Amino acid sequence: NRFNVWSDAEKASIYVARTIAELIVQQQHLGKPAVLGLATGNTPKKVYQELVRLHQNEGLSFHNVISFNLDEYYPIHPESFQSYTYFMKHHLFNHIDIDESNIHIPHTDLSPDRILQYCNDYETKIKNYGGLDLQLLGIGRNGHIGFNEPGSKFDSTTRLVNLHSLTRLDAEADFGTMEMVPHQAISIGIHTITQAKKILLLALGERKSEIINKALKGDVSTDVPASILQTIPQVEIVLDAEAASLIQ
Ligand code: F6R
Repeated sequence: NRFNVWSDAEKASIYVARTIAELIVQQQHLGKPAVLGLATGNTPKKVYQELVRLHQNEGLSFHNVISFNLDEYYPIHPESFQSYTYFMKHHLFNHIDIDESNIHIPHTDLSPDRILQYCNDYETKIKNYGGLDLQLLGIGRNGHIGFNEPGSKFDSTTRLVNLHSLTRLDAEADFGTMEMVPHQAISIGIHTITQAKKILLLALGERKSEIINKALKGDVSTDVPASILQTIPQVEIVLDAEAASLIQ
């Protein structure tokens, strides 16, 4: 893998935002859409902040951007504060000129009998755009990417998943109490992620240092879903010094 270590979170985030912006502009010059796979959580917040700044102050347009988010809790109403739909609007979409019809985030206020078809349709939509040009990833402390928890198959596609206890614990602060944290989510699969033409994994802070070393220097195993990234040439690992501190 290609490692790209920055002295602090801000520099790492700005690098990621600039890489995304360059892709968008490059596709505009070719008259093509830029198909982006986007993540939520704490890690990409500064990335989105910089993309908003580039739009507001430097004329970056998102008119050709097609976005697919990685995941969403199940069940959750898209308008609830904890939903990833809310997160994406708040941190990015409300502040840029993306066409609303180009935004895709798993909608999970679905009856159980509609989930399978919904997940298959999400995959088909990504394929119909020719796949993801760039996938932005964070990493969970248990090595998850998207909500592909330990044990997820490397050939998995979009589906309903059960959330790991550590994932639910890390979400407790957002939901207030553990009981309020959903037990499931819809997540794109590991296969879907690894098909992206470029993958940027961003990890920030000391709390990610242990899993970064384990996932990227340890055995490739479904016990640590992100370990599959060791085998994918188009992956770039972007870290701040703290997240990189335990790499051996
Ligand atoms: C979010 C996602 C998750 C997060 C991961 C890290 O869409 O797919 O895999 O990237 O849980 O979360 P943070 O960034 O909050 O540490």
